[in-house]
Amino acid sequence: MMKVQALTGNHDRSGFDCGVEALNLWLRQTALQHQAKGISRTFVAVPSSADVVVSYCIAGYDDITEFSILGYFALASAFVLADDLAPELAKRYPRQIPVTRLGRLAIRSDLQGQGLGQLLLANAVTRSRNAALSVGSAGIFVDAKDDLAAKFYAGYGFTACREQPLKLYFPMW
Ligand SMILES: CC(C)(COP(=O)(O)OP(=O)(O)OC[C@H]1O[C@@H](n2cnc3c(N)ncnc32)[C@H](O)[C@@H]1OP(=O)(O)O)[C@@H](O)C(=O)NCCC(=O)NCCS
Repeated sequence: MMKVQALTGNHDRSGFDCGVEALNLWLRQTALQHQAKGISRTFVAVPSSADVVVSYCIAGYDDITEFSILGYFALASAFVLADDLAPELAKRYPRQIPVTRLGRLAIRSDLQGQGLGQLLLANAVTRSRNAALSVGSAGIFVDAKDDLAAKFYAGYGFTACREQPLKLYFPMW
């Protein structure tokens, strides 16, 4: 149905709408700039083949092309203080730990609730783990934009930080 690839200038960033303007704008205006400077890497889900584009068209998504972004996420490196994590996680670590930051995760509004978010999150975790085989990273840290987003991440094993319910952590090891 979809394949995940690194964002390039060929992808249709302006056609993406997840319903949250800050996330749309970041993809349009900032993602490629940050990528060029090595600040973050953005990955996009696009239709996996021409046949899939046709299937979307038949299903009524007639603006979807092979360059359409169905969803995206961004990864970067960060440090967190172990004391900020939930106590049961904090006790495993030294004072400061390297983590992978899942900066943003968003799905096109009209495709939400169809499992794409789950697939992209799994892809982000796999990529983060693979990267952490070469450069140490203890887990994935995410800043949820609101309570609903925090619940989405909690459903996949992310644990809220101490006194910061919108910051969540998932140990990779
Ligand atoms: C949050 C988001 C990424 C989820 O993607 P999605 O494709 O709609 O989610 P899925 O269809 O893969 O759903 C996976 C599971 O999460 C649950 N879920 C989906 N959206 C949710 C939300 N906003 N809050 C809580 N749970 C949610 C689903 O019920 C489902 O659980 P189930 O399998 O037990 O039914 C998507 O709704 C989105 O892009 N929202 C706008 C941007 C945003 O809020 N991003 C979060 C950034 S911090």
